[in-house]
Amino acid sequence: MTEPQKILPQKIMVVFGTRPEAIKLFPVVAALHADPRFTPVVCVSAQHRQMLDQVLEIAGIVPDHDLDLMKPDQTLDGLTAALLTELGRVMDLEQPARVIVQGDTATAMAGALAAYYRKLPVDHVEAGLRSGNIYHPWPEEVNRKIIGTIASLHFAPTDVSAGALIAEQVDPARVHVTGNTVIDALHWVSQRIATNPALAGGLADLEARFAGKRIIGVTSHRRENFGGGMENIAEAIRQIAARDDVAVIFPVHLNPNVRAVMNTALSGLDNVALIEPLDYPHFARLLGLAEIMLTDSGGVQEEAPALGKPVLVMRETTERPEGVTAGTAKLVGTETTRIVSEIFNLLDDKAAYEQMARAHNPFGDGQAARRIVELLGNEIGR
Ligand code: UD1
Ligand code: UDP
Repeated sequence: MTEPQKILPQKIMVVFGTRPEAIKLFPVVAALHADPRFTPVVCVSAQHRQMLDQVLEIAGIVPDHDLDLMKPDQTLDGLTAALLTELGRVMDLEQPARVIVQGDTATAMAGALAAYYRKLPVDHVEAGLRSGNIYHPWPEEVNRKIIGTIASLHFAPTDVSAGALIAEQVDPARVHVTGNTVIDALHWVSQRIATNPALAGGLADLEARFAGKRIIGVTSHRRENFGGGMENIAEAIRQIAARDDVAVIFPVHLNPNVRAVMNTALSGLDNVALIEPLDYPHFARLLGLAEIMLTDSGGVQEEAPALGKPVLVMRETTERPEGVTAGTAKLVGTETTRIVSEIFNLLDDKAAYEQMARAHNPFGDGQAARRIVELLGNEIGR
């Protein structure tokens, strides 16, 4: 009698490089590790360095490959060229069965392209987000379209994003609504903090300094806001923080284009704390402390509504319309007077605030990673 053939676990390469990709992929890496059908191989480009390492540490991920590609003030061309060459080299070495990328960064786009050049199937986590404007967000809108053209499986977070793919003639059988893995990550970190509050205890001094004040949490980093947009945002924060009852806590992105503007405009103001990027538990704590979030971030647009925090989005358009439709997020652009008046309106009009401060979570139930791995399992042997 012949022995039944042993099926080896399938090698899946998970490629990421920036803070938000790491936050949104660590639940997927954990779910792959927990499934005996898969051997995940983690390749980080380190498009970000310190901000990536903060997530790797808290999530307990030790990458199998770390390309350490970040350069100070890197250009899109230089970064993309290095990513394509180096990610391709690791794919040749590892010969994975499939490659997973997330979102819309240069790492995700180059990872998908390198896999395509090797005819490896690419699976896209957080697929189908579209603003309809290739310069907002820039270059992310086009990165997503490139990945969408290449992808084998499209893991859309919502019906809206699934609909956008189907409208682009993607085969509906390859599009799956899974929820966004950021909600898995947020649940995970909230549970960790609940059992060990010290994990997010590092803001205690700031909490004491701003006791009794109404806290506004700020993040900003978008390339399309560099220059005039960033200066307007800084001036808006200066005007908002001139109010006695308000304090701004602003973990400043390590991009030098952000830091130069914010440090010049906002250093030394009594009601503004410009602080280093927070690790994920501390950022979750900030989301809890803040009365309002003011941001141009993608991920924060998803997390704040889930926690019932009104979020004012400093962009002209968004590829995440679900929060805006539900009334928990509002697009306010990057003009100083508009940002200030929208913040003051929320601070002073209780009814307007209450209307936005409803927990609303269109982005998932915290089970997205489990669904993604189940769907990947269905592909084995196809
Ligand atoms: C990148 C992504 C953007 C994503 C953002 C999340 C692209 C084109 N952009 O933008 O989609 O929303 O990450 O934060 O992929 N830096 C450090 N240390 C770090 C991280 C960044 O010093 O840990 C500095 C470096 O000087 C680096 C610069 O920031 O060159 C820009 O980093 P880069 O990844 O090119 O752009 P981001 O604006 O962070
Ligand atoms: N975040 C963090 N520390 C910070 C600021 C943000 O951990 O100091 C997290 C935040 O919770 C969200 C993600 O980083 O999950 C968003 O990253 P970013 O704004 O850099 O990128 P984007 O989402 O716009 O691509």
